[in-house]
Amino acid sequence: MTKKIAVFASGNGSNFQVLAKQFPIALLFSDKKSAYALERAEKLGVPSYSFELRDFADKGAYEQALVELLDQHQIDLVCLAGYMKIVGPTLLSAYEGRMINIHPAYLPEFPGAHGIEDAWHAGVVQSGVTVHWVDSGVDTGQIIKQVRVQRLPEDTLETFEARIHQAEYELYPQVVRELLGED
Ligand code: GAR
Repeated sequence: MTKKIAVFASGNGSNFQVLAKQFPIALLFSDKKSAYALERAEKLGVPSYSFELRDFADKGAYEQALVELLDQHQIDLVCLAGYMKIVGPTLLSAYEGRMINIHPAYLPEFPGAHGIEDAWHAGVVQSGVTVHWVDSGVDTGQIIKQVRVQRLPEDTLETFEARIHQAEYELYPQVVRELLGED
């Protein structure tokens, strides 16, 4: 039976779009009602859902609503794609082992919300992209696959960032395909 995929995105949603063009996505969730990812979902015909942490009494209640959403849709694989919240114990205990994340650096180098800028400002000659299982840390889960991206002498932050994103658009579908057993 085909596995059902959910994608979580907080903002732009370009990685979501790349996945949606290659795999049937059962749902997109955004924790930001203004996220551009939601507009992409509409254009792509992917059902989308959005609610915000501030709509709930606490993070546990927010994540319980997420678990119910995922359970209702019988989701097998959750792909975090620019979901800028730390996954808490409620969601993790329900979906650990079924949740992956993409990070725009070569973990364990440069975890956190600014992986590209942090690598750039550190003056690295290479950075990369990582897909990993989600655990309770910030970008600390077991690494599934990663690729290196060189910083070229003529790079600006913008061109470097664009190549990192391009590497994400190649790596994430590759990993999802492998996890679906389709490669
Ligand atoms: C991506 O570069 C993703 O790797 C990063 O946010 C961006 C989202 O872009 N995630 C993290 O930094 C997580 N620590 P997108 O919304 O256009 O896919």
